[in-house]
Amino acid sequence: MKIGIDKIGFSTSQYVLNMNDLAIARGADPEKYSQGLMLDALSITPITEDIITLGASAANQIITDEDRQKIDLIIFATESSIDQSKAASIYIHRLLNIQPFARSIEMKEACYSATAALDYANLHIGAHPESRVLVIASDIAKYGIHSAGESTQGSGAIAFILKKDPRILTFNNDNLAQTRDIMDFWRPNYSTTPFVNGIYSTKQYLDSLKTTWKEFQNRQGKSITDFDAFCFHIPFPKLALKGLKKVLPKDLDTEHSKKLNEHFQASIAYSRQVGNIYSGSLYLGLLSLLENSNHLKAGDTIALFSYGSGAVSEIFSMTLVEGYQNQLQLNRLDKLNNRQSISVKEYEELFYEEACLDEEGNANFNAYKTGEFALEQIKEHQRIYVNTNEIKN
Ligand code: HMG
Repeated sequence: MKIGIDKIGFSTSQYVLNMNDLAIARGADPEKYSQGLMLDALSITPITEDIITLGASAANQIITDEDRQKIDLIIFATESSIDQSKAASIYIHRLLNIQPFARSIEMKEACYSATAALDYANLHIGAHPESRVLVIASDIAKYGIHSAGESTQGSGAIAFILKKDPRILTFNNDNLAQTRDIMDFWRPNYSTTPFVNGIYSTKQYLDSLKTTWKEFQNRQGKSITDFDAFCFHIPFPKLALKGLKKVLPKDLDTEHSKKLNEHFQASIAYSRQVGNIYSGSLYLGLLSLLENSNHLKAGDTIALFSYGSGAVSEIFSMTLVEGYQNQLQLNRLDKLNNRQSISVKEYEELFYEEACLDEEGNANFNAYKTGEFALEQIKEHQRIYVNTNEIKN
């Protein structure tokens, strides 16, 4: 039975910070960001847009009434959780009106967890072939004003519907994971921003890639020539480019090397404009590749490298299905260009606003631009979400 990704949705914030403006404000050379990190802009969320609203908007783009009836598992992958107890997917279940007899859970392991979620979806559909699974990867990457990671922030969500006989990509069931206990990036419960050992984290990313890729090739009896594209977790595109260089052998023939380099450029088009979206970053790269490559075709196989600090990494591959192009959106860069540009001062206020709760646990917010869903208020410590289209109607 073929199992895989049937549809992909993506949402991000309505506000954008230009990297040139950030560079000038921080006294950095703009080329450090545009060439050194290969970033042009960062998606900035206001307080009324969080992992739930981003995730619901991404899923709402792709869900149909038939999906609402058939989805029996919702997995929400995030490291920007809004609750220590209740799973984010329960909010999604209600906001998207999914049939009641579904399992809703949240998964965490830094930027890696969506990869485990996809594998769980694969196993679930293998056991229950009529099931559909909704996987959401949604995060807000926030490091702090003037912090070392400030230039690699971002926000966004990817949503997948998985089923048998999918219309975009099928799993090849060749996953290989690696775990190593390291402190490269972590966020204790008492901190709203992570602690990061920046350079060390980039070294761990690249070493995890090198060692997992070597073992993957040994176990699968495959090499780079078996793959038509390679997608990487993209904390910032320059690191993913270093990743690509690690997996390209020096004696690779120029045609294949050219193809992988072209596909790599297509895979970073969205991240350049959005920044790091943690759990969804690898999959934003995959979506960007599918929607911006002129040369991919059905039957092509794509290798994926997932990395979550702490750290867990994984390599696996998927193969493109005949007609996959019909499931894509080709105007996504135009949509990104429609975000409202904000100044550095506005970004500092908007991105770092905290809810001011009264004694009963109530808070109201200014009206900000969001996608199709918004956090309207906090009432007695409960987050109240609304569908903004329903309010307008
Ligand atoms: P930094 O101090 O901003 O930058 O730190 P830098 O000094 O390392 O320079 C960056 C690049 O710009 C370098 O390129 C410079 O040479 C170049 P490289 O040598 O590495 O190729 N550069 C210039 N280029 C052109 N013109 C110039 C110029 N000046 C310098 N004038 C750092 C960068 C990544 C450390 C920082 O942004 C950071 O700490 N970010 C957060 C951590 C991070 O993203 N780590 C990535 C690996 S860990 C991971 O992927 C997991 C993660 O997603 C979280 C999770 O799993 O949950 C982060």
